[in-house]
Amino acid sequence: MAPGSDLGIVRRQLSAARSITVLTGAGISADSGVPTFRGTDGLWKNFRAEDLATPKAFERDPRLVWEWYNWRRELIATKQPNPAHKAIVELERRSPDFWLITQNVDGLHRDAGSQKVSEIHGNIWKVRCTGCGVVENNRDMPIAILPSCAHCGSLLRPHIVWFGESLFADDLDCCASALNRCDVLLVIGTSGVVYPAAGFASVAKEAGAFVAEINLDPTPQSALVDISLQGRAKDLVPLLLEPV
Ligand code: OAD
Ligand code: ZN
Repeated sequence: MAPGSDLGIVRRQLSAARSITVLTGAGISADSGVPTFRGTDGLWKNFRAEDLATPKAFERDPRLVWEWYNWRRELIATKQPNPAHKAIVELERRSPDFWLITQNVDGLHRDAGSQKVSEIHGNIWKVRCTGCGVVENNRDMPIAILPSCAHCGSLLRPHIVWFGESLFADDLDCCASALNRCDVLLVIGTSGVVYPAAGFASVAKEAGAFVAEINLDPTPQSALVDISLQGRAKDLVPLLLEPV
C-alpha cells in the first residue's frame, strides 16, 4: 500500500483518532444479501414506499403493511453479519470513544456484536403498541397478523421510523453529540438522500472531523467528504483496520 493512497490516509486518520463515529446504510447489509432501497434491485423499485412505510399506509391497511414487514423479517432472518459489520465491532473495541449510527433496521450490527449503536430508523425485530406505546422485542415468524399488545390489547406496529415521522428524540441527541465530537466520521453504504442522516456528513465536517465515505458508487455526499473510497463495504472496511 503506497503511503499516500486514499486507503492509507483513512487508515492513518483512524489510528490517530481519539473519537470515531460511523454512519451506515443499506449498502453494508447488501454484502450479507439484504436488499437495498434504491438502485436497480432496490426495494423501492418494486414496492411503493407510500403504500408500506408511512403512518397513513398503516392506518389505511395495517394488514398489508404487516405482511410486507413479515416478508422482510423472513428474508433478514436468513442473513448473517459480514466482514464489514465485524470490522466495525473491532473498531469499537479499539477506540477510546466510539459511536455507530445506523439507518438499517435489520439488527445485523448488534448480531455482529456492536454495542455502542443508535438504530435511528428503528429495528424490524421490535414492535410498538399504538395504544400504550410500549416497545418490545418480537422475533415471531410469521408474526400474528394483526398482532395485538399483551398489556392493553391495542394494535402493534413495527418499531420503525416511517417517512413523515421524526427520529426518536434520544437518538437525535446521541447522534448530534457523536457527530460533533468525533475526529473521524466513516460514512458507509448510504445513498445520502434521506434526512436527517443525509446531513450528518456535513455536520461532522463543519465540526472539524475528517470524513471518509465508502460506497460502491459516487453519492451526493462524495463532493463534500475528504476521501471517497469506491468498492464493496465487505472488502474495504476490514482493510481500514490493518496496520498503518
Ligand atoms: P439506499 O438503498 O438508498 O442506498 C444504498 C447505498 O449503498 C447506495 O448508495 C449504494 O451505492 C450503496 N451500496 C450498495 N451495495 C454496496 C456495497 N456492497 N458496499 C458499499 N456500498 C454499497 O439505502 P440507505 O441510504 O440506507 O428508511 O437508505 C436510507 C433509508 O431509506 C433507509 O433507512 C430506509 C429507506 O427508505 C427506512 O426504512 C425508514
Ligand atoms: Zn399496549
